Amino acid sequence: MGGEDGEMIGKEKKRKLVAEAIEARKNSYCKYSGFAVGAALLTKGGNIYRGANVENASYGLTNCAERSAIFAAVSNGEKDFQAIAIVGAPAGEKATEICPPCGSCRQVMAEFADPEKFLVLLGTEGGECKELLLKELLPYSFGL
Ligand code: THU
Repeated sequence: MGGEDGEMIGKEKKRKLVAEAIEARKNSYCKYSGFAVGAALLTKGGNIYRGANVENASYGLTNCAERSAIFAAVSNGEKDFQAIAIVGAPAGEKATEICPPCGSCRQVMAEFADPEKFLVLLGTEGGECKELLLKELLPYSFGL
C-alpha cells in the first residue's frame, strides 16, 4: 500500500500531512514578518519531517518552512519524497487561506522530487486543501 513510486496517496494520509503542517506552524520563528508557516514532508517510506520558517535579524538569512522540512529530511538520510503539505498565515491567526510556496522552495523541491509525481498540498485550518503537482508549480525547472 502507499509509498510506492507513482502511487497516489490516500485521503486520510493527506489529511494527516496537513494536520502535521498545522502543528509544525506552531514552531515558526517569525518575529520580523509576523507570518507563520508550517510544512510537513512525506517520504516514500512513510516518514514525516516537519519544518517551520525560521527568521533572522539579517532578513535574508530567513529559511522557509518548506526548505526547513526538506533540509531536515535530507540531513537525516532521506532523499525520496512523495508529498509536502504547507500551511501559512499571520502568526496568531487561523490559517484560512492557502499559502503557495515561494520560488526558491519550488526549486529546492525540484532538486529532490519528480515534478510529475511530487504532490504539493496547500492546506488550511478550515478543511480547504488545494492539490498540485510540482510540475504545475514549477514548469521548465532548472536542473543539471
Ligand atoms: N515563507 C515560508 O516559510 N514559505 C514560503 O514559501 C513563503 C514564505 C516565510 C518566509 C518568511 O519567514 C515569511 O514567510 C514571510 O515571507
